[in-house]
Amino acid sequence: MKSSENISDQLVSAFRTAQHVVAFTGAGMSAESGVPTFRGDDGIWKTFKPEELANLNAFMRNPALVWEWYAARKKVIAEVQPNPGHYALAEMERKFSSFAVITQNIDNLHRRAGNKNVFELHGNIERNYCMKCGTNFTNEYVLAGAAVPQCTCGGMIRPDVVWFGEMLPEDEWEGAIRACRSADVLLSVGTSGVVYPAASLPQTAKLAGAYVIEINPEPTSLSSHADVFLQGKSGEILPAILAAIR
Ligand code: OAD
Repeated sequence: MKSSENISDQLVSAFRTAQHVVAFTGAGMSAESGVPTFRGDDGIWKTFKPEELANLNAFMRNPALVWEWYAARKKVIAEVQPNPGHYALAEMERKFSSFAVITQNIDNLHRRAGNKNVFELHGNIERNYCMKCGTNFTNEYVLAGAAVPQCTCGGMIRPDVVWFGEMLPEDEWEGAIRACRSADVLLSVGTSGVVYPAASLPQTAKLAGAYVIEINPEPTSLSSHADVFLQGKSGEILPAILAAIR
């Protein structure tokens, strides 16, 4: 299916009259950049167990193992580039007076593509902090030193990502809710929509009156509630939407 075939006049007109536009993104957004998703056939959680890697207990039990895994992920993510989908969203931010990206991704690719108004619900793999004194550390610092990097205060350094069982960063979450409540159009892109509370955001926007567009190669539990489901890859469909609304 060619993505542009499904871009209806109704969708174009929703964008033309919109003042507030939101893109809510998940791992599928970065799949075409070469970052594996979590739950796809070659997804991260098919090979690794989240309970052994992405939670605080696992880290306290075996920090070297968790750091080894994050060091490998940091290297992969440092080498990939934003894809045409990311660039289309960056162009949309320049086009609309109010445009927000709300992302579950930790790969920083939205900012690298040029988006500035980004709410990162699950943290950012380029950042790290000391669990004792809160000092921030760059990836260069943590990757150059010991297997389990330590702060000068003696505290352990951890990646600035949200692990299972942890609260979302309050400012990012509140900003995301505010953006969804005022959205005229919400794009839900490349997310399976199974991890809460993030997965509730398209519904929040819908209840507040937004026109909801979902982009995904596979239907999800959101598909039947969205105003339109565009089946396909975000790296193809987002540039097609941008071309249609120009
Ligand atoms: P998932 O791996 O659960 O879902 C990825 C979605 O992307 C699936 O629905 C795919 O069909 C879709 N997809 C794959 N390729 C795509 C493409 N080229 N274009 C568009 N969509 C594509 O990832 P998330 O929904 O992001 O949380 O997962 C949510 C959270 O679960 C993550 O943020 C992470 C994970 O555990 C934490 O680490 C806290």
